[in-house]
Amino acid sequence: MSTADIPEGTVRNILEQDTLKWVFVGGKGGVGKTTCSSILSILLAQVRSSVLIISTDPAHNLSDVFQQRFTKTPTLVNGFSNLYAMEVDPNVENDDIGGNEGMDSLFSELSNAIPGIDEAMSFAEMLKLVQTMGYSCIVFDTAPTGHTLRLLQLPSTLEKGLQKVMSLKSKFGGLISQMTRLFGLDDEFGEDAILGRLESMKDVIEKVNKQFKDPDLTTFVCVCIPEFLSLYETERLVQELAKVEIDTHNIIINQVLYDEEDVESKLLKARMRMQKKYLDQFYMLYDDFNITKLPLLPQEVTGVESLKAFSRNFISPYQPSTSRGTVEDVERRISTLKLQLEDTEAELDRHRKGKQKV
Ligand SMILES: Nc1ncnc2c1ncn2[C@@H]1O[C@H](COP(=O)(O)OP(=O)(O)O)[C@@H](O)[C@H]1O
Ligand SMILES: [Mg+2]
Repeated sequence: MSTADIPEGTVRNILEQDTLKWVFVGGKGGVGKTTCSSILSILLAQVRSSVLIISTDPAHNLSDVFQQRFTKTPTLVNGFSNLYAMEVDPNVENDDIGGNEGMDSLFSELSNAIPGIDEAMSFAEMLKLVQTMGYSCIVFDTAPTGHTLRLLQLPSTLEKGLQKVMSLKSKFGGLISQMTRLFGLDDEFGEDAILGRLESMKDVIEKVNKQFKDPDLTTFVCVCIPEFLSLYETERLVQELAKVEIDTHNIIINQVLYDEEDVESKLLKARMRMQKKYLDQFYMLYDDFNITKLPLLPQEVTGVESLKAFSRNFISPYQPSTSRGTVEDVERRISTLKLQLEDTEAELDRHRKGKQKV
């Protein structure tokens, strides 16, 4: 099957699915996650009452893309009345959890024992908070794949945490509470408190997790580029999402080279052939997905204006400007070649003169 036979996809399905509450955007580093999630949030803000975009990537760049500073509290994006943004760092948000030194140290012990639990807890706290704020749709600009999958697996991480505490409790009886008393800590900071804490957290997580597994409420948009590693990673991501039962049916293939007029470069032509190979594979592997292709631009996509301009390609397929085969086209190519020839001759001239001087 060739890519020419398949109708071009867009992200319209996401804009039209007005039950959606959580939209995750993820993929390998540098493929365009932040660009795509920002544009999706802008487009969603046009059809929904209020939208929040959250970056969970420790390498935040929402601020760069929107050219505005964001923090861990939602801030209105300049030029919008219903689009908010916030940046959270899942690794350092422990200050909201403890509130007591003894508790904190017990938690840090616990997090040493169960890698990822502190991250899971702060993610849960954040989700709990965000849920009460009443945004109509929440878009996540996620960290590269491994990190994101860890967050999505957090219910089982917490489950493990609970089991660990339970087994400690049965093993050591009242030892932990004796110790907390010994160190002058109240019973309310003892192991029962931790257990209660974990249990209530588990409640939140379970509720959120139920929403994440509901395809009416949640979807995951995979962003990638037409190259082997990205195809490979997308497949891994799609499989992992199936395992954690999170819906995904949109793929955005970014940085696609189109056979525009005036493309004479051998390098570009070779890369286009390479991309074509992987594009064909994407379409073959994901024939039940909405696949949106985005052109590689000569410049970066920063600032609200360029995001808005680029967003056009999210709702109607990009059309390369090509007038191949017409007289105008041949004339234009000849004039490009003439210019290139002149440039190269001038370069040769400079080399020759340089040599004579030596
Ligand atoms: N289609 C594109 N054409 C040109 N530059 C792009 C395109 N998509 C993204 N970029 C640029 O590539 C860089 C990385 O994109 P970004 O969205 O930050 O990736 P990620 O969040 O996946 O690391 C940014 O400078 C962005 O402006
Ligand atoms: Mg990013």
